[in-house]
Amino acid sequence: MSGNGWFETVAEAQRRAKRGLPSSVYSALLAGSEKGVTYADNTAAFSELGLAPHVADLHAERDLATSVMGQPISVPVIISPAGVQAVHPDGEVAVARASANRGTVMGLSSFASKTVEEVVAANPQTFFQLYWSGTRETMIQRMERSRSAGVKGLILTLDWSFSHGRDWGSPVIPENFNLAAMARLLPQVITRPKWLLAFAKARHIPDLTTPNLAEPGKDAPSFFEAYGEWMQTPPATWDDVAWLCKEWGGPFMLKGITRIEDAKRAVDAGVTAISVSNHGGNNLDGTPASIRLLPSVVNAVGSEVEIVLDGGIRRGSDLAKALALGARAVMIGRAYLWGLAANGQAGVENVLDILRGGLDSAVFGLGHSSIQGLCPDDLVIPADFARTL
Ligand SMILES: Cc1cc2nc3c(=O)[nH]c(=O)nc-3n(C[C@H](O)[C@H](O)[C@H](O)COP(=O)(O)O)c2cc1C
Repeated sequence: MSGNGWFETVAEAQRRAKRGLPSSVYSALLAGSEKGVTYADNTAAFSELGLAPHVADLHAERDLATSVMGQPISVPVIISPAGVQAVHPDGEVAVARASANRGTVMGLSSFASKTVEEVVAANPQTFFQLYWSGTRETMIQRMERSRSAGVKGLILTLDWSFSHGRDWGSPVIPENFNLAAMARLLPQVITRPKWLLAFAKARHIPDLTTPNLAEPGKDAPSFFEAYGEWMQTPPATWDDVAWLCKEWGGPFMLKGITRIEDAKRAVDAGVTAISVSNHGGNNLDGTPASIRLLPSVVNAVGSEVEIVLDGGIRRGSDLAKALALGARAVMIGRAYLWGLAANGQAGVENVLDILRGGLDSAVFGLGHSSIQGLCPDDLVIPADFARTL
């Protein structure tokens, strides 16, 4: 390990996260529901795709910039919203600073531990993510708070089915980090002194509240209170989606699309963008890898909305593959969470640099001068690769 904590690959960031975090925190990051079939397929599917490089007439300069929902980004990867808090004391603010420094968008989960105001101050290019939770009034209030804070887009995530079993065992998440919870977690925490020290230096204990879901003038609900509200909310209809999209009236992404019919309904509801996603394998286990579903969704609605992909992105060549199959950009989850755990803000910057470097190599080797040139011909695609739902 180098003195400044730099790492060479996302795999190394993951190893360091595993070494450095209490086991329940690491396990909460890994997530993956039930048997982990979807979680595993999300990365395995990328390995099935080959690349078809050229050797001459290559381009000395490559342009990797694009935009998502009107936001210019220097590299086609944005931060996917993730609600895990106890990884690092600076949490989402560190991720926002890192993504701002690398010229890209921060996706902020409504289950985040930092306020939307702090996060937008660190990265003005922030999208705020909501679940369909609470009444229409509470949703409007949360949306308007994020609008006043200056967020540039809204993400509505709908692919959650409240399945909680994991074959490898769900981590114990305390209601809050009070003394009793600390005592229960002590055997794990004591073996990870650096993690504890980072929080001690920042003079606060890991936070499990959700400040962006607080009612005006009231305390922030705990993670479990917020989860309870969400579980009790009648599920969204397509009319609800169209209503929220209209109320927001700006760039709007629907996250979690797998089926063509749903992609078309999202277009009808008026969204700006969709994310082909299975929540990183945390939702219904057995859903195919999102990259397998991308070509059919692009074929169905690619001319009508922006399409991003998330799930299983671990290296720059994965970005090249997703773009070659029609994604405008990708979103990352675990890759940056592991970077954050490994080395805070610098660790997230490190992950974004790894992805940029890997993409640049792929664009170079595939003989393009910009990411716009990436196309299916650049790939070796097994006959049984794609799935259409
Ligand atoms: C620990 C964890 C927490 C997450 N929390 C949220 C969340 O609050 N909102 C959301 O829309 N997606 C959430 N996701 C899903 C991510 O936004 C993203 O879809 C997924 O992580 C992409 O897969 P990847 O981790 O393989 O990159 C979470 C994912 C993980 C791993």
